Amino acid sequence: MAEPIKKYKLGLFGHPVAHSQSPKIHTEFAQRFGIEVDYQLIDATAAELPEKFKNWIQSAHGCNITVPHKQNIMPLLDHYTERAHLAQAVNTVYWRGSELWGDNTDGDGLVLDLQSKDIKLKGAEVLIIGAGGATQGIIPSLLAQNVAHIDIKNRDNEKAKKLERQFERCTAIGIKNLTAKNYNLIIHATSMGHHGLSPELHHDWIDSETVAYDLSYGKAAEPFLKAAKELSAKQAYDGLGMLYGQAALAFEIWFTKKPDF
Ligand code: ATR
Repeated sequence: MAEPIKKYKLGLFGHPVAHSQSPKIHTEFAQRFGIEVDYQLIDATAAELPEKFKNWIQSAHGCNITVPHKQNIMPLLDHYTERAHLAQAVNTVYWRGSELWGDNTDGDGLVLDLQSKDIKLKGAEVLIIGAGGATQGIIPSLLAQNVAHIDIKNRDNEKAKKLERQFERCTAIGIKNLTAKNYNLIIHATSMGHHGLSPELHHDWIDSETVAYDLSYGKAAEPFLKAAKELSAKQAYDGLGMLYGQAALAFEIWFTKKPDF
């Protein structure tokens, strides 16, 4: 008799997770390679995470981690990769033998998407608006692509200054210190879009060659993308491609096969 096809248990830990597109994305990736997966959504508060995660992961092939647990998960793992360490956040968990590892594919997922859109990173002048976990996660990947410089603007300038101290070629531009500088790429990384808001954009930042990119996707990206288009940005993208990019890289970690997207 033929062996039953192995079904790999995967999942996503977050709070909330019900809206997630990850089950659809990973099931579709798996089908392309003839792999069967059961991708589950596990809603856990910070208090519930340790217990739920430790039980669930024993019979799983791996999992993704989303907001608000990308930092919370770290003490529950045996090791994490250099890029997860730099990002101080984990979005992908996998087994190596009997040890649990954490990686972070968010930044490289963004880079994959930007490359697929032919957006040139080498030598680019970049502005990131926001200085939270999402920003910390993407800076190492952008620097690795040899962007010329990253300016960081945040409501709380101290957080931007902390990133300036941590990373090379990064400058916190402060609130008053609005230089009349033009950027090749402006990345929106605050959570304002989830409240229907866009950060204020200085008209000197944008010209007809500037690409605007929101790390959020769908409705949450609309206010920033609308504001960037009003200032005649060349292109304005939401972060759906980054979502696929980080998923493709997580899938590659689990199955050593990288889906195109
Ligand atoms: P994430 O992991 O998504 O980056 P986070 O670490 O909570 O989430 O960071 C949220 C970011 O959105 C921060 O840069 C935050 O600015 P502060 O550091 O000043 O708090 C930014 N943000 C959220 N609401 C904002 C608002 N109404 N105006 C400006 N910035 C806002």
